[in-house]
Amino acid sequence: MVKIKQVSNPLARFSVEPGVHHHHREAQQFVGGKVPLGLKRKGLRVLVTGGAGFVGSHLVDRLLARGDSVIVVDNLFTGRKENVLHHAGNPRFEMIRHDVVEPILLEVDHIYHLACPASPVHYKHNPVKTIKTNVVGTLNMLGLAKRVGARFLLTSTSEVYGDPLQHPQVETYWGNVNPIGVRSCYDEGKRTAETLTMDYHRSANLEVRIARIFNTYGPRMCIDDGRVVSNFVAQALRKEPLTVYGDGKQTRSFQYVSDLVEGLMKLMEGEHVGPFNLGNPGEFTMLELAKVVQDTIDPNAKIEFRPNTADDPHKRKPDISRAKELLGWEPKIPLHKGLPLMVQDFRDRIFGDRKPDAAAGDN
Ligand SMILES: NC(=O)c1ccc[n+]([C@@H]2O[C@H](COP(=O)([O-])OP(=O)(O)OC[C@H]3O[C@@H](n4cnc5c(N)ncnc54)[C@H](O)[C@@H]3O)[C@@H](O)[C@H]2O)c1
Repeated sequence: MVKIKQVSNPLARFSVEPGVHHHHREAQQFVGGKVPLGLKRKGLRVLVTGGAGFVGSHLVDRLLARGDSVIVVDNLFTGRKENVLHHAGNPRFEMIRHDVVEPILLEVDHIYHLACPASPVHYKHNPVKTIKTNVVGTLNMLGLAKRVGARFLLTSTSEVYGDPLQHPQVETYWGNVNPIGVRSCYDEGKRTAETLTMDYHRSANLEVRIARIFNTYGPRMCIDDGRVVSNFVAQALRKEPLTVYGDGKQTRSFQYVSDLVEGLMKLMEGEHVGPFNLGNPGEFTMLELAKVVQDTIDPNAKIEFRPNTADDPHKRKPDISRAKELLGWEPKIPLHKGLPLMVQDFRDRIFGDRKPDAAAGDN
């Protein structure tokens, strides 16, 4: 019998009603979808939208490693085939080049919906496309989940808190977002995606999960995408000065990608809807981060100050009490351990001494 944990605290309202959840593995094998009599289901079928991107490709690695069948849907806007190329030939892996703004029908049990450009350089490149991806793309994937009875997980973002007036940010904080700024296509896009997800949950009884991801770093991040960790690492490797925007006292928290993937899978398989903050609460100023990069790569790297960009939040730090308590999750890899793990990958890609990645760019 499935045991239902009674949650008698204010977080209780974030848990799904008993009976909707699927606790153990056998139950998960048969979430949604229709299998004709006599045909055996071969493990979980998982769709990862944006699976050729940075976070998505690490998630795909983990899902395949444990025996799931994975379909990646990606338009390769910021993702790269090279990120998943090592799975080519695996009969449990498929990749479809497709834009989530257009509908698609696939028989799957779980949908991890990651498709969306994530760094400011990319999402500002075509803001109307960004909001379309967030709204129309999310609607399409929710529609698919409803049609095939799949469980749906949205990767939202800490950006839904905007420039937060509360620190650290808890999930009950509604945020301080500029609706008409240059970042709104992303921030408001993700807020709308959360709304759509909850509306499908309430009105169509869809099983949903929402993760609010905080800054994540690791191998396969886009180089030169303007995110601070990739910027600093690439600059230090190229012997360029590390560019710090503003006075460098704004803080961020940085989570290593394997910690995030673990959190996303626990969330998908747990019984709670969320939203859950998934991030590393270790808080660093930009200047402190520059110091870790200097210590890891080049102690002589110089720092150069530049004017700050519009709407750049001053502080960002997740409160992860809810994820700790309800998902039994917390990040394990501190910055000084995680950073060296991405340096070799960046070195290989920047200096081209690894063949498959040197050929990147046909997308
Ligand atoms: N990395 C972080 O620090 C972070 C923080 C908060 C939230 N997130 C969220 O996590 C998800 C993954 O982010 P990431 O860092 O891996 O970014 P990424 O840019 O590496 O990956 C996004 C992927 O989505 C694909 N994509 C974009 N638009 C698409 C569309 N219309 N149709 C199909 N595919 C499309 C891209 O080609 C790419 O492969 C995003 O939803 C992002 O908003 C990431």
